[in-house]
Amino acid sequence: MPIPQSVQVASGELRISAAVVERPAAAANAGRSLEELLTKLNIGSKGAAAVPIRLQLVDDPALGEEGYRLVVDDAIHLSARTDTGLLHAVQSLRQLLPARAQTQPEYRLPRIAIDDVPAYRWRGSSVDVARSFLSIEYLKQHIDRMALFKLNRLHLHLTDDQGWRIEIKRYPKLVEIGGASAVKDGRAGYYTQAQLKDLVAYAQARGVTIVPEIDMPGHVQAALASYNELACDDTKNLRPYSGVEVGFSVFCLEKPEVVYPFVRNVLEEVVAIFPSAQIHIGGDEIKHPLYADFVARTAAMVDAMGRTAILWEEGSVADIKPNVLLQLWNDGYAIEAAVAKGHPLILSPCSYLYIDHGNYKGQPGADWCRAEGLPLKRVYGFDPAPFKSAVGIEAALWTEFVHSDAATDDHLWPRLAAVAELAWSPAGQRSYAGFVQRMRALRPQLDALGVRYHPEPDLGWADTKGAH
Ligand code: ACM
Repeated sequence: MPIPQSVQVASGELRISAAVVERPAAAANAGRSLEELLTKLNIGSKGAAAVPIRLQLVDDPALGEEGYRLVVDDAIHLSARTDTGLLHAVQSLRQLLPARAQTQPEYRLPRIAIDDVPAYRWRGSSVDVARSFLSIEYLKQHIDRMALFKLNRLHLHLTDDQGWRIEIKRYPKLVEIGGASAVKDGRAGYYTQAQLKDLVAYAQARGVTIVPEIDMPGHVQAALASYNELACDDTKNLRPYSGVEVGFSVFCLEKPEVVYPFVRNVLEEVVAIFPSAQIHIGGDEIKHPLYADFVARTAAMVDAMGRTAILWEEGSVADIKPNVLLQLWNDGYAIEAAVAKGHPLILSPCSYLYIDHGNYKGQPGADWCRAEGLPLKRVYGFDPAPFKSAVGIEAALWTEFVHSDAATDDHLWPRLAAVAELAWSPAGQRSYAGFVQRMRALRPQLDALGVRYHPEPDLGWADTKGAH
């Protein structure tokens, strides 16, 4: 899970109770991940019957940047062009093994040959830590869970009206004031730059790139409350905000001498923390005569910093370079003209991929995009094929109504597994029935990771309790 491009099963099995790992120095992350797996399963290296596990970097263009091959015969062979590809191979091996250790281990592996490459290079989970905060510990756990499903982009929505979560050293009040607020009943807080750098490294070692979003020029009440001069002089309400309405706050675009130095200084600190080639600058839900000008200038600023901007779909009205990525979020948004200009798309259509919506009709929370909610089958049913310029797929978890770790788990899982399969697996291999069967089998892995997933009836999870 996600289902590979090709799986061939031969007869027989390989028994493994001890293993000897051979790996090139350049496969450090995959090596660490494999060692962790072996340790967790009590697979030591002692004994004449120790099975060789061979990690190999091979120059096979068919594997691309993330593809891998996994063969189990009398040994276990993992090959890829990159450390990242090998990391994915280790995850597939993990899924072939039990989720929990036996005391006297003797595990059975099928003799198998897997050839696998992702359909899309962008396989994302976005979380809104601005409305309601998530701890670094939670995010690390989330990265581990993402990695199990070969998801590789963690988009952090770091700023919004209700909170500013990233320390910016030149503007300390952003977190002193903006970090202290949250949506009603949500959690406040912020990340120091040291914490974020540590998180970036943790993610990198697991094949995940963290993509930061600073949402501008709207969705900025927390910034305005921290630095009032960013608002126009006649702005009435500069207090921190805990409501759920959107579209009311905006930088004072008539004061470019105030706004642009702020934007530049913030982005300079952001790019110094996050090595991501793409930086999200928001651009959603604000109408203003100077909006397109702001978007163009800010995207150009990101470009001059050696990165590429991502904008929500509305940014397509601005005069921006064709390499700027656009993130589609309203199902019917007229994106064709932007696609014709060459903009790559990240697909997050709300009626399939806004997983702040309920797992079922009537689950309390967001329902503005689809009143019936987004059951697992609905998410799985999204067809990305018509979007020829898509680089990938990303599910968004907004947190106006999702305030605890348990509620976050419940909204993310198992739906993110469906997202992973849409983003990784070729259309010809996908079927909901097969997905359901494989997810059932994978449940112990989720339990072992402590995931408090939604008890999805389609998976037969409604009547029984998991191990959590
Ligand atoms: C959005 O949901 N405003 C991107």
